[in-house]
Amino acid sequence: MRSLLVTSEYYPLIKTGGLADVCGALPPALAAQGVDARVLLPGYPAVLDAVRHTVTVAPLPDLFGGQGRLLRGRAPDDTVLYLVDAPHLFARGGGPYLDPAGQDWPDNHLRFAALSWVGAHLPAGNDGWQPQIVHAHDWQAGLAPLYLRSRPDRRPRSVVTIHNLAFQGLYPSWRMNELRLSPEHFTADGFEFHGQIGFLKAGLVFADRITTVSPTYAREIMSAEAGAGLDGLLRHRSAVVSGILNGLDTTVWDPAKDTALPAAYAANDLSGKATCKSVLQRRMRLGEARNRPLFGVVSRLTQQKGLDLLASLVPAIVRAGGQLALLGTGEPGLEATFRQAAEDHAGHVGVLIGYDEQLAHLILGGADALIVPSRFEPCGLTQLQALRYGTLPVVSRVGGLADTVIDANTAALADGAATGFVFAPSTAAALADAIGRALALFSEPDRWRSIQRRAMSRDVGWTRPAQAYRALYQDLLQADSTA
Ligand code: ADP
Ligand code: GLC
Repeated sequence: MRSLLVTSEYYPLIKTGGLADVCGALPPALAAQGVDARVLLPGYPAVLDAVRHTVTVAPLPDLFGGQGRLLRGRAPDDTVLYLVDAPHLFARGGGPYLDPAGQDWPDNHLRFAALSWVGAHLPAGNDGWQPQIVHAHDWQAGLAPLYLRSRPDRRPRSVVTIHNLAFQGLYPSWRMNELRLSPEHFTADGFEFHGQIGFLKAGLVFADRITTVSPTYAREIMSAEAGAGLDGLLRHRSAVVSGILNGLDTTVWDPAKDTALPAAYAANDLSGKATCKSVLQRRMRLGEARNRPLFGVVSRLTQQKGLDLLASLVPAIVRAGGQLALLGTGEPGLEATFRQAAEDHAGHVGVLIGYDEQLAHLILGGADALIVPSRFEPCGLTQLQALRYGTLPVVSRVGGLADTVIDANTAALADGAATGFVFAPSTAAALADAIGRALALFSEPDRWRSIQRRAMSRDVGWTRPAQAYRALYQDLLQADSTA
């Protein structure tokens, strides 16, 4: 089976969030299931620099305002990568979506239409490879299923995976022509979304299958509250919608082998975690005390992540003897709030505004608990990282958080099933209650340790999810051959 993942991010080459982690880890996991999964990625400078020894597959002579070429190379883990080398679209500084001043690139519609177009019309190189399945990720690849429909031949089947319905890729209708879209589909049951062109909507309408990254989020997005205006469409297509929980790359996230940690540890010997905690305390200028509960946060600082709820609780955490180590970047208002909290509570609250993978690993290794108070969360990976590192997650009961953490309520504690603390609704009061329960359990080291061990033994790898994607691909190809 041959599938092409079309994505705008890929760990370890270009990452702003969990999309990169998923698109980096899924291909080798699919390969282990016998799927020949390759990846199509924009040729950003960081990617072209990192992928050496590429071959040119074909020129891309008319690529949305300029010329490009399709390159083929290999990722560090040997996954085959196709790169859209198109200087007029991708040869620039800044990030994948934003310019250095933090504004959306003005031609994002062309940049990601080009990615989607090449995904739908992948030229066969000298190895003659062609996908049977085009697997588009998020709005940036959302036009691929629509472009595929316009192919006259026996086209590959398509899957769209929603990583976040909040980002839809909406552009004014007058851009239709330059995006090679036909006005015939500019309707409510086509790619029109309230008078605009919707990239993600196009994917959801025209893909053969739709997946999202947890079963709970798959249900939530069919409701008006979480559907971001697309719930009606998703309900209409519910027969082809499914939720497949993300995994973690357990080679990147392994406390026994993590080179970003000052000491290794494992479920049967947690002593190295204490060393990680003191190093983290020193690094974040926190008082070095083993017995003070240390809460960690590694997150984008946006409305989605609910960290404003946590901000209001910082004084209470400090009063209760707790510490906070926060790493994140995002909305200027939230960044300022947490910087201020670090100033107001020096020695108790450490904040680093920025993106730092090494520090993210150290927080996961060194903290006692990780707070993820999201208002919505398609899957969430940091709580999986936390489980794997024996750092008990404190999470809101939404999306993938609800699917991956078992609350330490009386019954779950008695059954030995608990792996963290789950609260609902997403309010400061409910979060305060969960933090209070975490503080209480932390003062019982034996019980805390047994929950840590259980958390660390949870299966958070990619094997099961990759099997589910393989089954989905198979189903799709079979449906096709019997059609
Ligand atoms: P989202 O994709 O919505 O941001 P996820 O939990 O799925 O949320 O994935 C976030 C990923 O990015 C995780 O691997 C997390 O460790 C990482 N991450 C988030 N913020 C930072 C940061 N400031 N520095 C380093 N890594 C970060
Ligand atoms: C998105 C979601 C996050 C999910 C990630 C990977 O960024 O916000 O919940 O884990 O995609 O699927």
